[in-house]
Amino acid sequence: MGLLSLDIHDFRNIHRASLEFSPGLNLITGENAAGKTSLMEAVYYLGRVRSFRTHHVNQPIREGQSAFRLVGRLQHEQGRMIPIGIERQTGSLQVHLDGAAVRRLSDLAGSFPVQVHSGDTANIISGGPRYRRQTLDWALFHVEHTYRDIWQRYARALRQRNAALRAQAPANQITSWDGELVEAGNEIHAIRLRYIEGLVPRLQQELAHLLPSLDVQLGYQRGWTVERDLAAQLQHSLDSDRSLGNTRSGPHRADFQLIANGQPLQSHCSRGQQKAAIVGFMLAQVKCQQDRAAPLGAFLLDDLGSELDANHQARVLDALRALDMQVFVSAIAETPAALPDWPGMKRFHVEHGEIQEVV
Ligand SMILES: Nc1ncnc2c1ncn2[C@@H]1O[C@H](COP(=O)(O)OP(=O)(O)O)[C@@H](O)[C@H]1O
Ligand SMILES: [Mg+2]
Repeated sequence: MGLLSLDIHDFRNIHRASLEFSPGLNLITGENAAGKTSLMEAVYYLGRVRSFRTHHVNQPIREGQSAFRLVGRLQHEQGRMIPIGIERQTGSLQVHLDGAAVRRLSDLAGSFPVQVHSGDTANIISGGPRYRRQTLDWALFHVEHTYRDIWQRYARALRQRNAALRAQAPANQITSWDGELVEAGNEIHAIRLRYIEGLVPRLQQELAHLLPSLDVQLGYQRGWTVERDLAAQLQHSLDSDRSLGNTRSGPHRADFQLIANGQPLQSHCSRGQQKAAIVGFMLAQVKCQQDRAAPLGAFLLDDLGSELDANHQARVLDALRALDMQVFVSAIAETPAALPDWPGMKRFHVEHGEIQEVV
């Protein structure tokens, strides 16, 4: 699986580009503000139909234009090639996959799953719990077929319960949602826990190479006290939920932390170590997908050089090489430190939004 080619029209500072990619490494170089992250963002957009940089849907449209268009060709198993097209106009979005209009974005899931490491991924350490839950949930949507349904069931029950709480409805109207909430909530927790139990050894394997001096653990909180099961906890906190107008217990409040040598990563580690740890976390997620026969389409690493010394850059590149999948790496330097032997790699140079393959 991977992206064979990409045509870009009016995305960020990229006016036009028509690119053929390597199924292995694609190295994107250029100076500051050349358009490297914009190219990464365009690749990511084909996989997720959103940006990793902004929630403002129109922001990637090139200034002065009214729409951007991305057209890609995906390589699927058995050698089949699948075209995908996305057009975003101010106020509308059209997505085509394999010649047919896509009505629900969830129908796209699995066609080109991408994972990114960019400046924003530092949110795994420094952002709010919502970001970390989304990171877990995105992976689970891909590896667990039932997860999306369970998650939607839970979200619906939670919305209804919260609406009843806000409306100061009688207690029995509020608790009438508890059965559904508890059933779906326990399933969500069980699936997450199983995933994390598989993720932790993968994380430790990755970090044994990237950060050999640190013992990294992952601390997971399920979203309610360990003292009670979820049903009892919902009962227990009914009064405080009513006064707050919000359900404060359940897997929608889950969180996790990366812990290095017994300390929170952000207080114990340098910026470079934090970046390496986050890359390791994302690589571990990719390995878990591969273990579960739900491989990713591409892994994107934006700005290899930022925060990382030559030694750590080389380690990260080695780890990416070992994934044996399509990878996009952007860097300011023409040749990053110690590029591993990577057959079929391609280089692209970006200057003022113009992208040239370097041959
Ligand atoms: N919607 C847009 N239209 C035109 N230019 C944009 C848009 N959004 C961002 N830019 C500009 O695109 C340039 C390239 O940005 P970026 O891809 O982040 O560069 P790099 O990652 O190479 O440093 C920047 O100068 C930025 O201001
Ligand atoms: Mg950039």
